[in-house]
Amino acid sequence: MKFTTTFLHLLLIFATDAVYGSHNYATVATNGQPFPWAERRLPDNIFPVHYNLLIHPNLTTLKFTGSVKIEVDVTHNTNTVILHSKHLQIVKASIEDEMDDSSLGVALQVLEYPPHEQIALLSANTLLAGKKYFVYLSYAANLSEGFHGFYKSTYPSKGGETRILASTHFEPTSARMAFPCFDEPAFKANYSITIRRGAEHIALSNMPKVKTVHLGDGLYEDHFDISVRMSTYLVAFIVCDFKSVSKMTSTGVKISVYAVPDKWNQTHYALEAAVKLLEFYEKYFNIYYPLPKQDLVAIPDFQLGAMENWGLTTYRETSLLFDPQTSSVSDKLWVTLVIGHELAHQWFGNLVTMEWWNDIWLNEGFARYMEIVSVEATYPELQADDYLLGTCFAAIGRDSMNSSRPITTAAESPTEINEMFDTVSYEKGACILHMLRSYLSKDVFQSGIVRYLRKYSYRNAKNEDLWNSMANTCSDEDFTSGEFCYSSNQAFKNRYKYGGEHLDLKTMMNTWTLQKGIPLVIVDQQDNIVRIRQERFLRGIFPTDPVWPSLQEGYLWHIPLTYITSNSRNIQRHLLETKSGVIDLRGNVSWIKFNTDMNGYYIVHYEGDGWDKIIKLLKENHTLLSHKDRTHLIHNAFQLVSAGKLSLDRALDLLLYLRFETHNVPLLQGLGYLETIFRMIEKAGNPDVAQNLKNYILKYFQDVIDKQTWSDEGSISDRRLRSEVLNLACDFDHPMSVKKANELFKEWVRSNGTLSLPTDVIMMVYSVGAKSAEGWDFLLEKYKISLSGAEQSKILSALINTKDVDKLLRLLHMGMKEDTIRMQDLPSAIYSVAINPVGHSLAWNFVKKYWNELVEKFELGSNSIRTIIIGTTSHFSSKEDLNEVKMFFESIKEHSSQLRATQMCLENIEKNIRWLERNLETLKTWLLKNIMGF
Ligand SMILES: *[C@@H]1O[C@H](CO)[C@@H](O)[C@H](O)[C@H]1NC(C)=O
Ligand SMILES: *[C@@H]1O[C@H](CO)[C@@H](O)[C@H](O)[C@H]1NC(C)=O
Ligand SMILES: *[C@@H]1O[C@H](CO)[C@@H](O)[C@H](O)[C@H]1NC(C)=O
Ligand SMILES: *[C@@H]1O[C@H](CO)[C@@H](O)[C@H](O)[C@H]1NC(C)=O
Ligand SMILES: *[C@@H]1O[C@H](CO)[C@@H](O)[C@H](O)[C@H]1NC(C)=O
Ligand SMILES: *[C@@H]1O[C@H](CO)[C@@H](O)[C@H](O)[C@H]1NC(C)=O
Repeated sequence: MKFTTTFLHLLLIFATDAVYGSHNYATVATNGQPFPWAERRLPDNIFPVHYNLLIHPNLTTLKFTGSVKIEVDVTHNTNTVILHSKHLQIVKASIEDEMDDSSLGVALQVLEYPPHEQIALLSANTLLAGKKYFVYLSYAANLSEGFHGFYKSTYPSKGGETRILASTHFEPTSARMAFPCFDEPAFKANYSITIRRGAEHIALSNMPKVKTVHLGDGLYEDHFDISVRMSTYLVAFIVCDFKSVSKMTSTGVKISVYAVPDKWNQTHYALEAAVKLLEFYEKYFNIYYPLPKQDLVAIPDFQLGAMENWGLTTYRETSLLFDPQTSSVSDKLWVTLVIGHELAHQWFGNLVTMEWWNDIWLNEGFARYMEIVSVEATYPELQADDYLLGTCFAAIGRDSMNSSRPITTAAESPTEINEMFDTVSYEKGACILHMLRSYLSKDVFQSGIVRYLRKYSYRNAKNEDLWNSMANTCSDEDFTSGEFCYSSNQAFKNRYKYGGEHLDLKTMMNTWTLQKGIPLVIVDQQDNIVRIRQERFLRGIFPTDPVWPSLQEGYLWHIPLTYITSNSRNIQRHLLETKSGVIDLRGNVSWIKFNTDMNGYYIVHYEGDGWDKIIKLLKENHTLLSHKDRTHLIHNAFQLVSAGKLSLDRALDLLLYLRFETHNVPLLQGLGYLETIFRMIEKAGNPDVAQNLKNYILKYFQDVIDKQTWSDEGSISDRRLRSEVLNLACDFDHPMSVKKANELFKEWVRSNGTLSLPTDVIMMVYSVGAKSAEGWDFLLEKYKISLSGAEQSKILSALINTKDVDKLLRLLHMGMKEDTIRMQDLPSAIYSVAINPVGHSLAWNFVKKYWNELVEKFELGSNSIRTIIIGTTSHFSSKEDLNEVKMFFESIKEHSSQLRATQMCLENIEKNIRWLERNLETLKTWLLKNIMGF
């Protein structure tokens, strides 16, 4: 089970020059000799079985040395060993056979080929198929300066001096920066890791420590237990001086949470959550967590949210630490979801791994989905389920653009592989799994997963393996163990009127994973007859455009439709596998709502008077529909406006029912669209329309705003609503809210920042306070000394809320120079500056100026670079903006023209231009009419 079909396919393409051991003279090593391998992927003539790895970092010199002894199996005779290595200075290489034949143990020549991050060891003696060998390499390197490989991180101690630690981040292709290895996910092996350190530090790795050897001269050597079989990208080690808290799970797994010593008391919530979530997953997957321990470590410098290294998960501080004084309820939800995500990976990803990065969604889509399922089960009060809607809306936002990609997409170079970690893999992956789960039922879905995980444990899998496991939920094991189990036919018969005997899950799911985009289902209801048809949903491109037919051609989804009607609120089902179909409802029906609770991944348009009926229904009695259905209708209406299928005034009319809405999710969804429109119009230079829209929002939501208290009381949904609504009110200069925030800010300053503010409103209090010069300076000083990441991120947002351009620029430079603001926080700072009406061109100019530095730090294709590109351009809406952005991308073409983010960004600006052209007048008129209504 080593290679994917795509790899075989690749080998065939290159068959002429990729014969084992043959020389390809197109690839030249650094010393001018021919490099014996021309592919990006390693040959399949040698497999690693076990790595013996010794690492000796020096946190004073910021260098490390290492040696690795890799036990390998040879499957084809060869004279070369090709493996990955990046920025490592190889000191010595040798190969021994099982008999420890010294003739092989002599130093070997090592060739390097940096473009593919590979080295080749040339052996005079042929390595024979079927035999076992030991490849030995010793090397030296510098600790990495960025966020990948074995990298340096720092934090200030209480006494003010800078403390240094070293930590790893390997996914997807950076293990090769810490040790020479077969750095592809299908090369699984066991690892025995040894770390040397000074007395003032501890070392952590995937497995528990089994012994410490004192080497003298203040040097210690920690030996870690041999690991289970795993992929290189999951290996991890840390040398630091952190403190921890620990607790046993009911099944005897030791959970520990580590942080810098001064933040030790913010680790307790994570510990409780990790214990609960791990226990949940052991039950849900019906497979014990295979390691004796799980450490969760908050790293001061961390590019992403967190990383699932097996047994040693690493986190950004704000993703793990919870400070009751300053962390809000959203911060708590975030921490819980991130832990739920990384622990889900211990099974999905670590135990069973995708064969290649083209299927990274098998890891990430699952973890994204399971985080919601697990938190919903363990912390129901956090209402994680509501978060699923936002997840799917994010997926749709991306997937309704032509520049989207299929979930499974070829990716070969490190940049392409990096780009796979995006909304399509994560959010769309999660949403189609949710659709599959409601299609199969929760029980069938779960038993399918268990079956898949059991079957592929310690191995690799691809899409098809998952579908086969899901469709055939009865295994021999189930029968012999006497457990109840569905046959696939039973499972589906109850739920779908399906004609065929055998349901082909693979064919159905391939329409969601191998084809990009999202379907639009167009509904035409005349009494009891409902005609439905599907097309590809696209925003910003209309049927009148010449490209339309070509963008539609060949697209067809197998859509598991659900609906409720005025007659029956029981969910009805219909599988649409063709372009169009007809449903006979039997009996008279006044309205119909498709995609119940948004359990499916498709947009719905109601033709004829369909939307009128829905608008009327919501006005008359919105509680006839669930809050998810209401949110879904709001979402669909505004999506259809962007697609030119519904006029803006109809979508705005639909929002009129929000006066009576009491649920936070639809309320915030509706408010969110109005705010987004406002932000775009404000920047597009239409001050009158913007002002009218702002007045409208403040008037229309007056009751909701006035109802909010400046406290932390109420349910989670009350609290989320409070944060969002008051934030908008303050931003829009709502007098009462600004007054209240100012009062609280003054009190807080008077207490020299020791007064404990309600966590839900800290953000607005700081933001309003930051508007004055003294307030801003006071906050910046607090930022420097705060020990709470949650508080720091609230302060930074407040600082960025200033209307003083010089201050904004100062903040960006502080991030760039890593003075006070950490580099890790720069991408989101740039993003926030771009949202600020006085900051959007500033942010864009900054990105242009420092493009090379940004790319060097964050790596091309990374999520951070994507955030920066999309964030600084997402509000552009004029032809001049478009040309300007195009010209810049043109100028950096050599290393960015392949980036998906640049295509996405251009398409997005074009969409904005067209949106304004089509809707600005309508908005103007609608506002005039409706403001009069007050
Ligand atoms: C480490 O950094 C130094 C100074 O920047 C450089 O000269 C040296 O080549 C680097 N070592 C390796 C192994 O890259
Ligand atoms: C790091 O290097 C310094 C200077 O060479 C040396 O004194 C110290 O012992 C080294 N520490 C470790 C842990 O190797
Ligand atoms: C390697 O890992 C597998 C599980 O993945 C385990 O069964 C095996 O015992 C390990 N090998 C050694 C030598 O410990
Ligand atoms: C946590 O510790 C810091 C300093 O060690 C202290 O200032 C703070 O009050 C503590 N917080 C809690 C909640 O105990
Ligand atoms: C609205 O619908 C709910 C739920 O079906 C029902 O209980 C309520 O009586 C209805 N209210 C009105 C005014 O029709
Ligand atoms: C206010 O707090 C800061 C640190 O938080 C401290 O350095 C300063 O001395 C305090 N000022 C007063 C007047 O207490």
